[in-house]
Amino acid sequence: MGVFIAFGLFQLRVHEEKLMDDLKRKTKVVGESMELAAKYLLLNKDYQYANKLVERFQKRERLQGCVLYDKTGAILALTERFSDWKEKEKPYVIEVLRTKEPRAALEKFQQYTVYSYTLPFFDNEDQVLGAIEIIYDTSYVFSSLIEFWKRMSLTLIITILIVLGILLILYHQLFIRPVEHLTEWFHRYQRGEVLELHPIVKDGAELGQLANEVEQMALKLKVAQKSLSEQAALRVQQEELWTVDRLKDLIHAKLGENGFFVVSNREPYMHMAESVSGVVRCIRPASGVVTALDSIMSTCGGMWIAHGGGNADRKFVNSKNKLGVPPEDSRYILKRVWLNKAEEDGYYYGFSNEGLWPLCHNTHTRPVFRERDWQMYKKANQRFADAVLEEVPAKNPFIFIQDYHFTLLPQMIREKCPDAKIALFWHIPWPNSESFSICPFQKEILEGMLACDLIGFHVQYHCNNFFDTVNRFLECRIDMEKFSVVRSGYETFVKPFPISIDDKEVCFSDDDEKIRMIQEEREIKDMIIGVGVDRIDYTKGIVERLNAIDRFLEKYPSYRKKFVFIQIGAPSRVHIKSYHDLDAEIDEKVEKINWKYLDGNWKPILYLKKHFYVNEIRLYYKMADFCIVSSLHDGMNLVAKEYIMAKTDMNGVLLLSTFTGAWRELTEAIPINPYSIEEFADRIRLACEMPMDEKKKRMESLKKTIQEKNIYRWAGNIITEMTAIQKT
Ligand code: G6P
Repeated sequence: MGVFIAFGLFQLRVHEEKLMDDLKRKTKVVGESMELAAKYLLLNKDYQYANKLVERFQKRERLQGCVLYDKTGAILALTERFSDWKEKEKPYVIEVLRTKEPRAALEKFQQYTVYSYTLPFFDNEDQVLGAIEIIYDTSYVFSSLIEFWKRMSLTLIITILIVLGILLILYHQLFIRPVEHLTEWFHRYQRGEVLELHPIVKDGAELGQLANEVEQMALKLKVAQKSLSEQAALRVQQEELWTVDRLKDLIHAKLGENGFFVVSNREPYMHMAESVSGVVRCIRPASGVVTALDSIMSTCGGMWIAHGGGNADRKFVNSKNKLGVPPEDSRYILKRVWLNKAEEDGYYYGFSNEGLWPLCHNTHTRPVFRERDWQMYKKANQRFADAVLEEVPAKNPFIFIQDYHFTLLPQMIREKCPDAKIALFWHIPWPNSESFSICPFQKEILEGMLACDLIGFHVQYHCNNFFDTVNRFLECRIDMEKFSVVRSGYETFVKPFPISIDDKEVCFSDDDEKIRMIQEEREIKDMIIGVGVDRIDYTKGIVERLNAIDRFLEKYPSYRKKFVFIQIGAPSRVHIKSYHDLDAEIDEKVEKINWKYLDGNWKPILYLKKHFYVNEIRLYYKMADFCIVSSLHDGMNLVAKEYIMAKTDMNGVLLLSTFTGAWRELTEAIPINPYSIEEFADRIRLACEMPMDEKKKRMESLKKTIQEKNIYRWAGNIITEMTAIQKT
């Protein structure tokens, strides 16, 4: 740039000199052409003619003038338009007459700069007779220079732009393109879409060396993956019980480089900013899906794609909307999908939770199906499909979709990625075909789901309901030998996989101290403590539970002041009317019961309505003599399993609704029918009075069941089933 400007200035200078030379030449010619006439008229003292001579300049185009001096330097005649020239100091004229040498120079005249050429003339004896001064206005020189500078600048700018353009093209071709190419190759090589090495010539140039390095690393990774897969396959064949390591091995052996992708609506980690202080907390939401899958992903890695629903979520993602989680040690990748308010309202609150949720739970809450919610549900499913397709490799990715929020997603993915292995796990019950028939979008929902290779439910009963439903609403063939649905030549397996938890018994050395502090603070030391841990949801039977506690205290007054029930309630789906109403109903019921039995400082129910961290909930489980899970209908219910595993001292009793999936496995729990308040109240008494050895016996058996059927077995069975599926 500097060079260009210097060049421009130089050109300008040359042009200026040329113009001045031109002026000098012109004034000289004019002066010399007048010399003879001036000599003549001075010799003859013909001063009248002198005026005529100078007046000739009046008619010339540019401002020009002429002055005639006698030998003393006095003005004899001058062009009229320069009449003010008389006033000007002109020492140079005397100098010219004395030295007999002509002079050319720029002179100031009024507000102009003029060019003056003064030429002495002589008689025949070479004596000075006088001088002629030719004056030229120079303003045209400056306007010509400005014009020249403008033309020059334009040329310079165009030249600079052309040069820059060429440089950019060169930069793109020589640097950006090869780097893009290399990145694309590395990406595809990682996904297994290309097998050949990168074609950048290894010519020793910088980029060639970089390509070499990247190639070497990609190759090493591939080799390492391969040997890991083989070792893993060996170990899988040898082991019996499901452990973290066995699942890890299975994933490496069976999925290898194909990647493991989980999709759910609820994200495992949510960044929430407190409304008043603005302090951001990262919470793990209350959700069975999160409880189960976070432990798998944390040990086995992969990518989890979910709705970024936290109000501070956007602050914690990179440019691709991803972050490593758990936040403190990044064990897998969470990719957040954004939904606008209308989409969240229609897809999540509306169709998923006012439509499908009550449709699938027999709790007598009427489902609502609105056309606009359905449209948003489709739109949101498509948004998730796009987010998934952006990530998965073209060949054999394993996509594991969670729950009723995504019935259309399998088909949307299948259309673009026919190679994918897709499994959908339905975490809630599946209703009978009669109940399902009220859904206006039944066909699209079933068709969307049947694009999966595998659909999992918690229990066989829900699988059977699903078979009945597809049989009734779609043209298809059910193969009860293989447990599959065949439709348009495509086969979907439908099987039960009871979900579970990590069976590790977590125990911190300071748990006892913390429990003691809570008990002291809440004044519940030495009392019989019951606990309930739920999302505030009408399917959980919280109101029924409170009624049962009320009846228990009515029937067995000796427990008053010796008993407390702690209900932990995580607020949930608060913008839905039925949830809002339930929230108010629970508040009122707790208040009423507490008022009814209030005695001094004692009240029977402690209602803790807020989000609790996992480590806090563990303390309440541990201090509780019994835990109530009284769902009116539940796919599995992991609280039941969490309570069992938290009770390391074996001193606990689980009261479990027979309408939960968990009841099918945890048969050593005390069964309850939440609708039968009398019986429920008696079962609470049974729990309070159960002898320690019986508690221990039941606990041991329950723990054994969970240890055998832990979350690793759940995931392992699904992966094994998926990878065994042969596509025709
Ligand atoms: C159930 C569903 C989950 C859901 C959870 C919490 O367990 O099966 O998919 O995440 O409820 O509900 P929320 O609407 O808060 O995600």
